[in-house]
Amino acid sequence: MKKFFWGMVIGIFLPPIGGYIFIISGGMPVAAKGVPLPMERFIAKLAIDRAMKDDITRRSPLSSDEMNLLAGAKIYVKHCDVCHGLSANQPTFISKGLFPRPPQFFEPNQGLTEDPIGEVFWSVKNGMRLTGMPGFDESLSETEIWQVSQFLLSADKLPPSAQQVLTSEKL
Ligand code: HEC
Repeated sequence: MKKFFWGMVIGIFLPPIGGYIFIISGGMPVAAKGVPLPMERFIAKLAIDRAMKDDITRRSPLSSDEMNLLAGAKIYVKHCDVCHGLSANQPTFISKGLFPRPPQFFEPNQGLTEDPIGEVFWSVKNGMRLTGMPGFDESLSETEIWQVSQFLLSADKLPPSAQQVLTSEKL
């Protein structure tokens, strides 16, 4: 019984003490530079997937016509390109200094053209805590969030008017 008691005490107090020692010894990465902690990516992904679960199947109420894609492009160059970039091979200064790095949506393999729109909508609306990704719930209307989400999903087949918005921003 006594052994059990001490086992319990050690079991309860050891993990927080270990965590404290880890932190005061400088083991915890806090700078934006560096690699993720073991399991950090896995745990973060699991938590995000769980949080978005109900929104993932949502469909956009808007059509992907030129007017909406053009509006999405304008929102993107105003609020997003500073982190997510405008073209391949040109990561922005801000993106290079953030942890985790914001995906560069115009780089091959980093675009969202295959993603469910409900997932993109959720990310833009709510943001992601402890990453640089802001939530735009208070700043953009639902319509604007759908427009910029549709723009990202159609990034590989934009009408010339929307492409023009991106090109003029690059100059
Ligand atoms: C200050 C930098 C910053 C700005 C501005 C920003 N983002 Fe992000 N965004 C991030 C970061 C960092 C991540 C990665 C988060 C992660 O890894 O969990 C991200 C992730 C995302 C994701 C999820 C990508 C995926 O692979 O699932 C979407 C969608 C997104 N951003 C869209 C936008 C849109 C649209 C805007 C503008 C309305 C925007 N972001 C503005 C930093 C930013």
